[in-house]
Amino acid sequence: MTSKKLEGQVALVTGANSGIGKGIALAMGAEGAKVVVNFYSNPDAAAEVVATIKASGSDAIAHRTDVSKEDQVQGMFKAAVDAFGTVDILVNNAGLQQDAAFDELTLEQWNRVINVNLTGNFLCAREAVREFKRRGMRPVSKALGKIICISSVHEVIPWAGHVNYAASKGGVMLMMKSIAQELGPLKIRVNSIAPGAIRTPINTEAWETPEALEKLLKLVPLKRIGEAEDIGKAAVWLASDEADYVHGTSMFVDGGMALYPGFVDNG
Ligand code: BGC
Repeated sequence: MTSKKLEGQVALVTGANSGIGKGIALAMGAEGAKVVVNFYSNPDAAAEVVATIKASGSDAIAHRTDVSKEDQVQGMFKAAVDAFGTVDILVNNAGLQQDAAFDELTLEQWNRVINVNLTGNFLCAREAVREFKRRGMRPVSKALGKIICISSVHEVIPWAGHVNYAASKGGVMLMMKSIAQELGPLKIRVNSIAPGAIRTPINTEAWETPEALEKLLKLVPLKRIGEAEDIGKAAVWLASDEADYVHGTSMFVDGGMALYPGFVDNG
């Protein structure tokens, strides 16, 4: 019998009731982690993720938090510690898009996206680091703690019509690297996963019709759309001790989307 990769560890995954976050929560639960399933809307979907993780033999709780609110994030970490004793792995996944042409982009849309996608990452990461330092090393991992930010290929690929989103992801990239530089000596491993086009509710219009999918796949050298499980598997590996020397890096899981495929027959 092979032992599970995250046995005995506690993972807190933000935005874990749908899409990529759900894929990560389920993958980590299946590998033995106890999971805090953070959600903001749709409690039924979060409860379903909890039930699936419990059915796979691990444990989970759901917790509603707006990750852009400091007091709520602190309350969520307290609830995690009350339920499971500590947190070993933070997955900063919660994020949203509010798209508009640049000259129509409202301050409200700008702020909402930056607040959730970037400030939410900061608030959760800071609370995680405080918890890692409070409890000290545990025999379950070589690291004091692990932080994985779910950014996007748009941490490097500019994105017209999505300026607030691309700016938030570029911010996540340098926040992650700066934290990694600062916290490496404490054995806190910090990395990002940069997904490409993954089949989730955030980008339904990019894949729901055959025409849309065909257009999308022009941007994907591997010629298939990604699935939440693709990111789940990468996140499990990155959180495990198998990735113990991986630090401060963005792992692109994008079917090659960041390879400038538009240049294949151009330029
Ligand atoms: C966005 C998706 C988009 C993908 C590739 C993601 O970060 O949320 O809407 O399909 O990047 O462009």
